[in-house]
Amino acid sequence: MPPTTSLLRTTASRYVRSSLVPSSRALLPSFQTRLQSHDHRNPPLGNPPVVDRSPPHPPSEEATALKDNVKSGSFLGTTKRLPEFNLNDKVVLVTGAARGLGLVQAEALLEAGATVYALDRLEEPSKDFYRVQKKAAEELGTTLHYRQIDVRDVPGLNEVVRSISESQGKLDGLIAAAGIQQETPALEYTAKDANTMFEVNVTGVFMTAQAVAKEMIRWGRGGSIAMIASMSGTVANKGLICPAYNASKAGVIQLARNLASEWGTHGIRVNTISPGYIVTAMVEELFQKYPERRRDWPTQNMLGQLSVPQQYRGAAVFLISDASSFMTAADLRIDGGHSAW
Ligand SMILES: NC(=O)c1ccc[n+]([C@@H]2O[C@H](COP(=O)([O-])OP(=O)(O)OC[C@H]3O[C@@H](n4cnc5c(N)ncnc54)[C@H](O)[C@@H]3O)[C@@H](O)[C@H]2O)c1
Repeated sequence: MPPTTSLLRTTASRYVRSSLVPSSRALLPSFQTRLQSHDHRNPPLGNPPVVDRSPPHPPSEEATALKDNVKSGSFLGTTKRLPEFNLNDKVVLVTGAARGLGLVQAEALLEAGATVYALDRLEEPSKDFYRVQKKAAEELGTTLHYRQIDVRDVPGLNEVVRSISESQGKLDGLIAAAGIQQETPALEYTAKDANTMFEVNVTGVFMTAQAVAKEMIRWGRGGSIAMIASMSGTVANKGLICPAYNASKAGVIQLARNLASEWGTHGIRVNTISPGYIVTAMVEELFQKYPERRRDWPTQNMLGQLSVPQQYRGAAVFLISDASSFMTAADLRIDGGHSAW
């Protein structure tokens, strides 16, 4: 079936599906209430993605603002203002986007116009996910979807990726942010725990990229894959004992180079983002347990600060968009200079 026909058919079926009321009888009362008000499996819909939709023209306010010379006249992503950052016609998957860095990056992609699918193992995403999902439909004219999947379940993962690609008639991008962390001294690490770490952080990322690349090759439109590695893939962290995690992130950086070399001829770019310490809920918990880290960690980088997930929004949009069209096999390290010291 040609992509456009399949897209029209599946877009229509999405609208029909969205009007169905899910059965919530077997669920706990608190979850039931939430489902009745906003079910993440049937998201509020914005505009359906359109193949080859070009960036919008700048709104008339821009011309007025430029004449007044008072308000800002910059409308990023419109035809005359860095249109290569616009993601209007792109469908992008983000793993690990039920919360944390993945969700913040998903929000940035939505703001740039993409249709985004969050893939995560959690049965229900975080509270903030619902805010972003509503914002996507009501303020950004696009849609944030949710699919529950563990990246270790390879047949299930392939099925989810294939069905998204089929229903949208294309697949343009992936941010692989799903990952786990474990702090255990090397002498005490069990083989089972080490294998779990590598299964999620390396094999899981690899299999997600593989499933996505197969679809990108099938549609023949190329695409961009960004994997979330870490500065810990390059340096051993002072005072943070996680040998398997650090080895897994080094694996992600090297994996990206190899995938880039194999898939470049299909127009698929593969890069990594290596963040420094990010203050997420997980790190806040660590600070409760080890308060000295709140004091010590910022002193280990050149800016004397810890980062927040919002500081990686630009990197996500840059790598997925045509703004980075000549960039592949690269590691974008954003760590306040930590690993250069
Ligand atoms: N927080 C930091 O300081 C930091 C620094 C560098 C890199 N990173 C990396 O950034 C990414 C996001 O981290 P975060 O801080 O937002 O952590 P987080 O724990 O808040 O988010 C990770 C998400 O991945 C999901 N996930 C975990 N295992 C999964 C699996 N098997 N299948 C599907 N989903 C799974 C979780 O459910 C969660 O929603 C990770 O890859 C992490 O290693 C984090």
